[in-house]
Amino acid sequence: MQAARVEGSFYAPVQAELAELQRRLVEVGAGAHPTFRAAVRHLFTSSGKLLRPTLVFLSSRFGSGARDREIVLNLAQSLELVHTASLVHDDIVDRAEVRRNVPTINATWNDDVALIVGDYLFAKAYALAAVLPKPEVIAMVAQTVFALCDGELGEVTAPVALPSESAYFERIELKTASLYAACCQGAALLADADPEHVALLGAYGTDLGLAFQITDDVLDLVGDEEDFGKSVGRDLAEGMATLPMIYAANGDPSLAARVVAPGKDPAEVRELLRIIRASDGVGRARERALGFHDRAVRALDGLPALPERDALRDVADFVVSRVR
Ligand code: FPP
Ligand code: MG
Repeated sequence: MQAARVEGSFYAPVQAELAELQRRLVEVGAGAHPTFRAAVRHLFTSSGKLLRPTLVFLSSRFGSGARDREIVLNLAQSLELVHTASLVHDDIVDRAEVRRNVPTINATWNDDVALIVGDYLFAKAYALAAVLPKPEVIAMVAQTVFALCDGELGEVTAPVALPSESAYFERIELKTASLYAACCQGAALLADADPEHVALLGAYGTDLGLAFQITDDVLDLVGDEEDFGKSVGRDLAEGMATLPMIYAANGDPSLAARVVAPGKDPAEVRELLRIIRASDGVGRARERALGFHDRAVRALDGLPALPERDALRDVADFVVSRVR
């Protein structure tokens, strides 16, 4: 892997678009129910990493045709709202109390409010997508939501058993990588990029998303809560087996049974964290994330040598070296 560059340098080429996007995000609740307005303020004043809109803006620069800034902003906002809606719903499913270092919507209000806030955000996302000028990009947004739902349903209906490596990869491709791919591929399509470049950006997005989710799953086991912005050990507490756990417990049926047991008490979580951190599971999972990083970066080699290509490389470096 190449040396990681300075964190966040990849935002520079698209700073103006990101600032406009942030302005629009905090206004998403304008004119709506007061509870939705308050939830929107709550969600968008604690800033996320905005990786997905950054990918939309960077990927759109590979288009050869006229690039309408409004259209690209619409796609970026739509996909960021899909992402936020899915996290609001996911926090209900996970009974999560903290995200981005602030209380979740379900913890601040309750599950019923969070459910409807998520629906509201998703409807806003689709309203933005519906006016995009290319039906194939509108369809892509809908397909991405199907994929997120399939991934999440796969997770919540999974049998209480250690999944295979391939079942894990299938799940994270659906619930995470599909959205990264849509950001890159959708933006390139909207900007009339060369079909070969659209495909390369889609491949980059998929591999980047896989690297991101594996790293997220590693941080859930070894991260610092303050940096990570959410509780550590939650996957383990709920019996949600991720790649480092699969590697740590494979071939050890008694450890596997303890890992996948739902609703563990804190002492059992601490003991299992100690065992998994001492195993080679975390290192092997990080290696896999680096493999997807490298494949993502190789896909970029087929793109024109624009500054945005360097920025996409920096995004890939950040995704595997991040602590938050
Ligand atoms: C976070 O993963 C969750 C997702 C990436 C997808 C969640 C999808 C849904 C709830 C389907 C509904 C979608 C819409 C658009 C309404 P994680 O639990 O591994 O990460 P975390 O630690 O950040 O919670
Ligand atoms: Mg979750």
